[in-house]
Amino acid sequence: KSAEKGGFEHFMLKEIYEQPKAVADTIHPRIKDGKIVIEELGLSDEDIRKISRIQMVACGSAYHVCAAAKYVLEKLSGIPVDIDLASEFRYRNPILSEHTLVVIVSQSGETADSLAALRESKKRGFPVLGIVNVVGSSIAREADSVFYTWAGPEISVATTKAYSTQLAAIYLIGILFGEVRECISREEADHYIQELLKLPEKIQRILDEKERIQWLANKFSHTKDVFFIGRGLDYAISMEGSLKLKEISYIHSEAYAAGELKHGTISLVENGVLVVGVATQQELFEKEISNLVEVKSRGASVLGLTSYGSYSMEDTADFTIYVPRTESCFATSLAVIPLQLLAYYISVARGLDVDKPRNLAKSVTVE
Ligand code: G6P
Repeated sequence: KSAEKGGFEHFMLKEIYEQPKAVADTIHPRIKDGKIVIEELGLSDEDIRKISRIQMVACGSAYHVCAAAKYVLEKLSGIPVDIDLASEFRYRNPILSEHTLVVIVSQSGETADSLAALRESKKRGFPVLGIVNVVGSSIAREADSVFYTWAGPEISVATTKAYSTQLAAIYLIGILFGEVRECISREEADHYIQELLKLPEKIQRILDEKERIQWLANKFSHTKDVFFIGRGLDYAISMEGSLKLKEISYIHSEAYAAGELKHGTISLVENGVLVVGVATQQELFEKEISNLVEVKSRGASVLGLTSYGSYSMEDTADFTIYVPRTESCFATSLAVIPLQLLAYYISVARGLDVDKPRNLAKSVTVE
């Protein structure tokens, strides 16, 4: 078994380390002569121009990819995006307008609710695109078209590399749709592609600095309550960071849109609470900082997560983690890495079964 883990102590750490390669493997086959080509979508330029709405459906971390995708796809392609949890979508009699593209995101391709959402959409006559990792899985077989994420087998219950490759899929689709629909110019598309190609190396750079996250994890391993807050895409990352932490450390954690704090959550902030403030989105940075000032003045410890260059985070945060700079709509791919490592090392520090957390399954194939 230890040979399967390639020298790593757990599958989760091994899979965290496989991310630069997994993301590169997902991106590279879809770039030809400097342009994005995704033949497997089976969509002509004409078809892409006709799409009036994208309905994304998934569960768990794959749903958090949808949360990020809403920001990314709307920005790059100009197409309105609705997102739904599969367990909600399948029973709410969804109203889908003409020319809606349904996108189901799933690592395993076997999640019962996601599969049911797929069948419901097809029954109503809507084309379904699956973003799937496991080749030949039920969702891959039943979808009208499949975008495979080439993450390779994922063993750890807490997903890491599949999540990262799903995000890469969204970027590729966003740039492709954006260029075809003239929401972004050829030059802009080219710039995005160049930035995309740099992501694997930037992820690697974060991994190379893992000791600092390990140190922070040991420091906070006894914390009882953690809140992850962010705005825009940083809110989407917060959801994933919070889920990772609670899944494998059993620490109570929640994600909130930072702007919602005053509508409830702030009543829970007191001494001993840890607030992880994610702030990679330049245009929202000052807003996020003012939220962090508020929680700090109520006794929270603040762990800031931002990009190199945004050093003023240190005026407010007790500790700061930096990730390399990238296009703001790709920042999720970098910010998630320290959050995965934080969850991982906290779980290890607490002596828990990292790869097989209690009560959880890798794939939820029953309702
Ligand atoms: C379980 C896993 C999660 C995963 C979710 C959806 O809860 O623990 O990591 O995100 O199922 O699974 P899927 O295979 O559809 O992506």
